[in-house]
Amino acid sequence: MEQAEIGLIGLGVMGSNLSLNIAEKGNRIAVFNRSPEATRKFYAEAGDLQGQIIPCETLEEFVESIRPPRPIIIMIKAGDPVDQQMEALKPYLSAGDIMIDAGNANFRDTMRRFDTLKDSGLTFIGMGVSGGEEGARHGPSIMVGGKEESWKRVDKVLTSISAKFNDEPCVAWLGENGAGHFVKTIHNGIEYADMQMIAEIYGILRDGLGMSAAEIGEVFGKWNTGRLNSYLIEISETVLKATDPVSSTPMVDMIVDRAGQKGTGKWSVIEAQNMGVAATAIEAAVAGRILSSQKKEREEAEAILGLPTLAEAPKDRAAFLADLENALLAAKIGAYAQGFAVMSAASTEFGWNLPMPTIARIWRAGCIIRSAFLDEITSAFTKDPDVANLIVTPAFSQMVKETDGALRRVVSYAALSGLPAPALSSALAYFDAYRRGRGTANLIQAQRDFFGAHGFERVDGLDRPHGPWGSGLNQG
Ligand code: 6PG
Repeated sequence: MEQAEIGLIGLGVMGSNLSLNIAEKGNRIAVFNRSPEATRKFYAEAGDLQGQIIPCETLEEFVESIRPPRPIIIMIKAGDPVDQQMEALKPYLSAGDIMIDAGNANFRDTMRRFDTLKDSGLTFIGMGVSGGEEGARHGPSIMVGGKEESWKRVDKVLTSISAKFNDEPCVAWLGENGAGHFVKTIHNGIEYADMQMIAEIYGILRDGLGMSAAEIGEVFGKWNTGRLNSYLIEISETVLKATDPVSSTPMVDMIVDRAGQKGTGKWSVIEAQNMGVAATAIEAAVAGRILSSQKKEREEAEAILGLPTLAEAPKDRAAFLADLENALLAAKIGAYAQGFAVMSAASTEFGWNLPMPTIARIWRAGCIIRSAFLDEITSAFTKDPDVANLIVTPAFSQMVKETDGALRRVVSYAALSGLPAPALSSALAYFDAYRRGRGTANLIQAQRDFFGAHGFERVDGLDRPHGPWGSGLNQG
């Protein structure tokens, strides 16, 4: 029997969809699942694609049916199960075979797995896959990390299944070891910020302007035809317009305001902090989810503190809606600038040489944060790949200048009305801090020197490490 080009372990929804996508694009694939019933069911339902699929019930049979060096995608729950699966697989593999972890792994686990395999002759790919179930089935964005030679073995298959933006495949090899999973983590961090900001605008429209879910859906629908055109705005319109069949009220009003999280947003923030990069909009988004989960406490606090009185809504509703649209765009620029700054720092820290224009390019289709905006980011980074921050590129500095006034007005309205807008306001504060040549940390340095003799730099360059201070313990 003709051998398969690639193998896949784990026939959950993502694994099944990815397998069908691989088969549909003309690649022969061997599949294996811990429970053989799932493999049988998957194969039985594969229809016309059966001819491209080799269903296997033992690991031995599975490995034998793949053309060496064997690329094997592992699409199972992140964490320990991946290590266990790798251990179970190892005895059947030969030198050069490539285990590919396609889950949302912490890149530090990916680095560790690389290290563990270092002397075994086996290789590893840490692969970020974005786009949810639909993406996996019809074209995800794929972020690959590993040895370049491993990438060359899988390039053709992955290119065939990836999303395409103007015929350009949304897949790329981004660097050694943990590069792919790191970039996927930051993709998710930006996704958190994007979602939080959209939700904050939704809150202003719902609780500030008193608009219904369907009306807000309508507004998002309009924005989706403009500069905010994106998958997340598009699905926000759809979900806001959906009706609950049980209560016949808007579906979104029937959902408890408590958001879950599986860890990638938090890892983005932790790594940003580790590397000393300010990723405040992503931090605000993660904190927003944490606060959302404290529903009972919030209800108790509302009973004790009450809610502030709403500020008077701007009279010119059309102008305010335009402000909200521009505010979202401005804040989005802040969040993306921060995400890219984290990746740039990680590139240096881990020696990855991450290609910023390529990352923006492969996020233009397939992934959850896909948008027209990412095409503009691709152009900005292509023109200036080593720029310190997206917001100082000519195109984006111009956009910030055009929109930050709107963000300022929206954040002011939210603050005066007591409507929480932590991600929008943190993006605004980030712009204001980043663009101000003379900040206020001179006072912090003075305080640090006063109580801890930490010393400071003088603006005139004079070499005088401490004080003197007028009173207190440290007299210089
Ligand atoms: C994607 C998504 C996907 C998943 C995340 C969401 O890019 O396809 O980001 O990876 O939906 O796990 O993360 P939370 O469950 O933490 O929101």
